[in-house]
Amino acid sequence: MARSKVTVVGAGNVGATCAHWIATRELADVVLVDIIEGAAKGKALDLAEAAPVMKYDLRITGGSDYEATANSDVVVITAGVPRKKDPVTGQFPSRDDLVRTNQKIVGDVTREVAKRSPNAVLIIVSNPLDAMCHVALHESGFPAERVIGQAGALDTARYKAFIAEELGVSVRDVHGIVLGGHGDEMVPLPRHTSIAGIPVRELMPEDRLQSIIERTRKGGGEIVGLIGVSAWYAPAAGTVEMVEAIIRDQKRVIPSAVYLRGEYGYDGLYVGVPAVLGAKGVEKVIEMKLNDEERAMLEKSASAVRSVVSLLGYENPA
Ligand code: NAI
Ligand code: 2OP
Repeated sequence: MARSKVTVVGAGNVGATCAHWIATRELADVVLVDIIEGAAKGKALDLAEAAPVMKYDLRITGGSDYEATANSDVVVITAGVPRKKDPVTGQFPSRDDLVRTNQKIVGDVTREVAKRSPNAVLIIVSNPLDAMCHVALHESGFPAERVIGQAGALDTARYKAFIAEELGVSVRDVHGIVLGGHGDEMVPLPRHTSIAGIPVRELMPEDRLQSIIERTRKGGGEIVGLIGVSAWYAPAAGTVEMVEAIIRDQKRVIPSAVYLRGEYGYDGLYVGVPAVLGAKGVEKVIEMKLNDEERAMLEKSASAVRSVVSLLGYENPA
């Protein structure tokens, strides 16, 4: 049987780490693409040279030529510019400028991959995440089931890691979910969080839980504050969890940025919700019964997403 093929566009921190973990899990052959040809070629070569030691039987190649990406099963898009200080002016770019810059990059990349891999599932990682999902959907012309954003997998991983650390229990026994957009208004759900089935509120005082929720919301910024650039290990882990669910048709329930058509009361907007991921991409959106407080938080998060999406200038984002 032919091996699956995954293209990762953007051979920077997140993209190269995705390639690394796709290889170590032996999920698929990997094609790494970057506008900087040497970066993609060199990192792919480095990973290929590690194979005899790490014992993965895969083909890992890289470069700038999109022909090598043809007939991919999954394409991960991490290309973009991060939000960083201009070394000359010392200023951060405005949010609007960043959206427009990454809209152009993600739009160009999407058109290149979509025409060569018309049946692929696209996983978008580039920020601002929810808006970039709209760009990829618009530019690919793919059905929305095959254009999915990675955010909830990462945000949920951070939330679980903090709870496990606080309680001194294994991360394996922490269950929970974070909904909403990939921003400070994201919606961790303590009512649906348990430790081996025991509600988290039975094990942790409310003030500690609230401080973990706040830390989760600011999780991206915490890493930027420490390293000076944004995170890549946990973002790549979340992304590869989604790649695996699709390549292995696992029907995993993973919170993902999904284009909603009426679910949760939203129509034509990407929002982070629990989704069943399998070979066809988003195979089902699971509608949770939210209480009034949770619904209000989701609405706050969705309206933050809507305001960024409005900057894209699409009449109809779909
Ligand atoms: P990075 O700067 O290390 O890598 C980005 C790569 O994209 C660079 O190698 C660059 O050369 C490449 N690139 C730029 N324009 C391109 C084009 N037109 N075609 C092909 N490649 C191009 O950045 P990093 O840390 O890997 O982050 C990538 C993106 O992912 C950023 O937008 C970041 O904000 C976002 N991100 C999203 C997360 C999420 O949870 N959704 C988490 C972490 C990062
Ligand atoms: C993160 O959450 C910056 O989106 C990136 O780490």
